[in-house]
Amino acid sequence: MNQIKSKNINNFICKVTVNNNLLSSLVNIQRKSNPNDQKYDLLNLEKFKEFVKNCEKKLKSKKTKVLIISFNSNKKYKIDHLLMRNITEIASCFLGNLVSQNKHGEKNVVVYDRGRNLSIKNGARYHQTREGGSIHTDNVNVSSRWKYMILSCLAEGQVGGETILVNGNDVYNQLKKNYKEAKRILQKKFFWEKRGVSKSFYSAPILQINKKGEAEFRYLRPYLESAHIKKKKPLNSKQLYALDVLDALLESSKNQYRCHLKAGDLILALDSQVLHGRTSFSDFYHSKSVFSNNKKKSPLKRTMVRTWIKT
Ligand SMILES: [Fe+2]
Repeated sequence: MNQIKSKNINNFICKVTVNNNLLSSLVNIQRKSNPNDQKYDLLNLEKFKEFVKNCEKKLKSKKTKVLIISFNSNKKYKIDHLLMRNITEIASCFLGNLVSQNKHGEKNVVVYDRGRNLSIKNGARYHQTREGGSIHTDNVNVSSRWKYMILSCLAEGQVGGETILVNGNDVYNQLKKNYKEAKRILQKKFFWEKRGVSKSFYSAPILQINKKGEAEFRYLRPYLESAHIKKKKPLNSKQLYALDVLDALLESSKNQYRCHLKAGDLILALDSQVLHGRTSFSDFYHSKSVFSNNKKKSPLKRTMVRTWIKT
């Protein structure tokens, strides 16, 4: 099996470059505008399957928890936003089964600012806003556990929107060493809402330790706070203390890795072990969505596509 070309960035992130040979075969994938209801001829994509499986192997090593895979290394092979979305969908299918992300059953969700007035605080979902902050895992509004999150960059905005990655294990080690009371509380159950999926609630801890002794997180503070309000079970002072400690650790520069994703970059992460977020961003004033009829070739809105994968 061919090895992938990769380089460690730090103790949990590895950067992977797609070689020209694979790029030349990927540009021939037929572009389809709605990946949610399409079928590909996966038999013709054996080379890509081998590449994805090699990437997955990297994530089975003890250290690496997230890969940043670049499909934009050679300008000769132009991967436009339609093709990048299709590549993301196909890579996801090679890794496992895609999880529905909303009540419409969509498994391939596009992340972009739907309107400058939208805010998570007023009930919008994170992926529909331009807001930053709230370092989180994605596995919060679905109660069952899934494994991989993919976030692919289709277009960059005008300013901001840095991607933030935090190694859950680093945070866990700091909790264990210095903040034992907060750690104890985070391992107890909290209420969660299934925002965007259903009106029901469930309860689960923020921090759990898996069979391999690794820390697994479930965290997005605004969703948890609104669940406690709607359930009329306000967070008590101890719970608030534990959340404040966790936020402080997640926002500490020594725990964060930041990068600016370019169109054609794809992040493949173990969702429960890598917390992520972004800084706030702004699109160009006259920018267009990737779905619009963009005859004037206006700049595109910052756009990511996201999949959740169960293995
Ligand atoms: Fe997210």
